[in-house]
This record gives sequence, structure tokens and C-alpha cells, in this order.
Amino acid sequence: MKSPTPAQLRKLKTAAKTAAGRAYAPYSKFTVGAAILTSSGNIYSGCNVENASYGLTNCAERTAIFNAVAAGEKKLRLQCVVVYTPTDMPTAPCGACRQVINEFGPDARVLSICRGQGQIASSTRELLPGAFGPADLA
Ligand code: THU
Repeated sequence: MKSPTPAQLRKLKTAAKTAAGRAYAPYSKFTVGAAILTSSGNIYSGCNVENASYGLTNCAERTAIFNAVAAGEKKLRLQCVVVYTPTDMPTAPCGACRQVINEFGPDARVLSICRGQGQIASSTRELLPGAFGPADLA
């Protein structure tokens, strides 16, 4: 999958950072924002939304993807996922989010950024090798 343009990357980073500011994370206090670029060039964002039951927490990455589906994106294909945390080190998507990213972006680029300088540039394939996905049900 092709890389986002520098302008798209700037927009993705800003959107992910803005989304982190909207996180509902009263339990962990760990705020996360995510932004996705679809193959049609649209950008969607999301934040983590926690729950008093803990287990029902929805991560930022999944919120962003579900946001795209709910907005009516047909044939959703992820080109790039950017994850932002206001931390010194970047954090990679959790296992559940990797599976959901794979559903719509098996060849997406995944970039984790943070308040600090560090970043993790990866891909769905690298984060979830040998994934189970839609093709397995065909
Ligand atoms: N979290 C995310 O939003 N994305 C991840 O990939 C890792 C974890 C959230 C879930 C929870 O609200 C908080 O971070 C601490 O785990």
C-alpha cells in the first residue's frame, strides 16, 4: 500500500492528536487518539472510550475505524493508521485493534507517534503476521 503524502500525514497526525484530547479515560488516565486514511482519501479519527466495567473499553483505533464504517464508507480500505499518545514513548496498537485493522487494512501502514520524538513505523502484516481475516471465510 502506498505511503500517505506529507500533507496527508500532517493531517493524520493532527487528527490523531486532537482525538486524544477527546478521550474518555477516567480509569486508566491513558488517553489515545487515532486517525485513519482510507483508500478514497478520507480521514476519520477516534479516541479511547472507557467503561466502569473496564472490559467494555473501546480503543482509539477501533473507534476511528467504526467511525468510518458508521459514516457510510463502503468498501473501506485502510491506507494508513496513525496512533497518538501524549507520552514520552510511542505505543503500538493492542492485539484486538490489530485484528480490526487487519479486517479493513491488511496492507496498511501503521504509525505510532507521541509527545516525544520517538515513533514506531510498522504495517498490519508486521504487527499481525499470519492473520485470520475475511479471505479465510470466502
Ligand atoms: N488503548 C487504546 O486506545 N489503544 C491501544 O492500542 C492500546 C490501549 C486504550 C485502552 C484504554 O482506555 C487505555 O488505552 C489503557 O489501556
